[in-house]
Amino acid sequence: MLDQVEHKLEARPAQKGGPHLRIDALSKSFGDTRAVDSVGLSIAKGEFVTLLGDSGCGKTTLLRMIAGFTAPDTGRIWRQDIDVTYMPPAARRMGFVFQSYALFPTKTAAQNIAFAPRMAGKRRAEVDQRVRQLATLVEIDQLLDRYPHELSGGQQQRVALARALAAEPEILLLDEPMSALDARIRAKLRTELRGLVDRLGMTALYVTHDQEEALALSDRVAVMRAGRIEQVGTPGEIYHRPRSRFVAEFIGTSNLLAGTVEAGGLRINDALWSVNTHGARMGDLITVLVRPEHLSIAAVAGADTMTGTVISATFLGATRRLTVRCDNGLHLLVEEPSTAATGNRIGEGRIHLRPDHAHVVPLDREASW
Ligand SMILES: Nc1ncnc2c1ncn2[C@@H]1O[C@H](COP(=O)(O)OP(=O)(O)OP(=O)(O)O)[C@@H](O)[C@H]1O
Ligand SMILES: [Mg+2]
Repeated sequence: MLDQVEHKLEARPAQKGGPHLRIDALSKSFGDTRAVDSVGLSIAKGEFVTLLGDSGCGKTTLLRMIAGFTAPDTGRIWRQDIDVTYMPPAARRMGFVFQSYALFPTKTAAQNIAFAPRMAGKRRAEVDQRVRQLATLVEIDQLLDRYPHELSGGQQQRVALARALAAEPEILLLDEPMSALDARIRAKLRTELRGLVDRLGMTALYVTHDQEEALALSDRVAVMRAGRIEQVGTPGEIYHRPRSRFVAEFIGTSNLLAGTVEAGGLRINDALWSVNTHGARMGDLITVLVRPEHLSIAAVAGADTMTGTVISATFLGATRRLTVRCDNGLHLLVEEPSTAATGNRIGEGRIHLRPDHAHVVPLDREASW
């Protein structure tokens, strides 16, 4: 049942039409650094895709190549069926919001937003009208006469977004557009941004190293690692079915446990867990991911439980995360709903843990684990 639901979610982007943006085997090196290493990705019209990865993994370089600010060493970029690989940036019909605000410091907010339509030779009255419309859309109507240094970070961010939208791009490329904002404004602005992109029917490629932001915003997430895309999928797929140990550890909090496949399930030290081992053969040594919220606290010990004591507890609001030192030497992270009545379980005696769900994690390409 769950498989069917997830499958439908995965199929959704394809139903929006053929690829609007397609990149194929794109590579870029700077000296000995292979910043982007043979990356391929297709994005449907109207889809919102996020590139997620650690600092230095090649996100900005990839986005700059798509926008036309950096020439690739090899590979191709298509907008629908048009090869734009060597087109100048202005001809690509793509809007770019940079990692730094990059507003023109000597122009007012209105003049910044008006820049692209002016350059395109639009009439003054038409440009003025568009500036006012966009200012309303991003809620900076009252700030149009101010210079960038007279605006807060969040306000500058909105001006930068309006400036990118003023060129009426088909595809919006956003490089960490909220990196300088505090958590509350970020959350508000990202919801607004997603709504705006949907309303205008644009296709968006968004860069962030904030996984919460990526999971909250995107139709699909591409997890990058050292210049390559490690996995592309819906947020649910990336979180629940990581295809490598790297993705399993990178997204969310994880218990990664090695065990041997037996008739009754998976043998992990002294416990026999009845988890779905997905076609692994008897005697195979496999690794499974058990998210902290997928471990339950059992009332009594059994053959399928691990027993231990709580050594730390973190209050997270709706839930409480516990670290349990098990008798068999393993440390497990457990997340349980928090209530006002329950304590943090430290010093409350022994607890028994049983998995509700486990996902078999394939070995990484590199055998270094
Ligand atoms: N112009 C350049 N010259 C030399 N090396 C570069 C240049 N631009 C990027 N690099 C290198 O390429 C790699 C990828 O850089 P990139 O800026 O694409 O990473 P990023 O994923 O955007 O990181 P961050 O999250 O910190 O912005 C890094 O090792 C970086 O040092
Ligand atoms: Mg970057």
